[in-house]
Amino acid sequence: MNDLLRGINLYLIGMMGAGKTTVGKLLAQQLGYGFVDTDEVITQVAGQSINEIFAEQGEEAFRTLESQVLSQLCAYQRLVVATGGGIILQRANWSYLRHGLIVWLDVSPEDLYHRLKGDTSRPLLQHDNPLGRLQEIVTQRQPLYAQADVKLRVTVNDTPEQVMNGIL
Ligand code: S3P
Repeated sequence: MNDLLRGINLYLIGMMGAGKTTVGKLLAQQLGYGFVDTDEVITQVAGQSINEIFAEQGEEAFRTLESQVLSQLCAYQRLVVATGGGIILQRANWSYLRHGLIVWLDVSPEDLYHRLKGDTSRPLLQHDNPLGRLQEIVTQRQPLYAQADVKLRVTVNDTPEQVMNGIL
């Protein structure tokens, strides 16, 4: 795979809780690539947590920052990039993502809920009915995620190593 990729970046997309960060780190290690988590860069640049950015600046400001961070990654090669779940929402982001190979980790809302219940770091899930909210978001975003180059169906039973091998 390494030779085939010729150093192009790998962008992991998919819902929150899909395992993009965990799998991305493993994959980067395996390929000898650098690893970037866009949420992590955003929190560093903003000096605030994702929750704080959403609460104080609003989702739109977060999306602008997210887009700026993503655009800058095109200047690099040999990166595995774990993106925020909503990266696919902005049309302009697709031209940045197309700079590399886009891999969708497709997880059912029920499995996402299983992984994320009790999680307080995702502002979009601060809701009376987080499972219902996840189902709603997945339904809205599915057609966008489906534009990835590679789709991998992932379940809660898959280990990060299995998911990584699936991608490879
Ligand atoms: C979001 C997903 C989060 C983070 C923010 C918004 C989304 O990233 O960017 O809370 O819109 O799905 P993860 O997918 O890494 O949790």
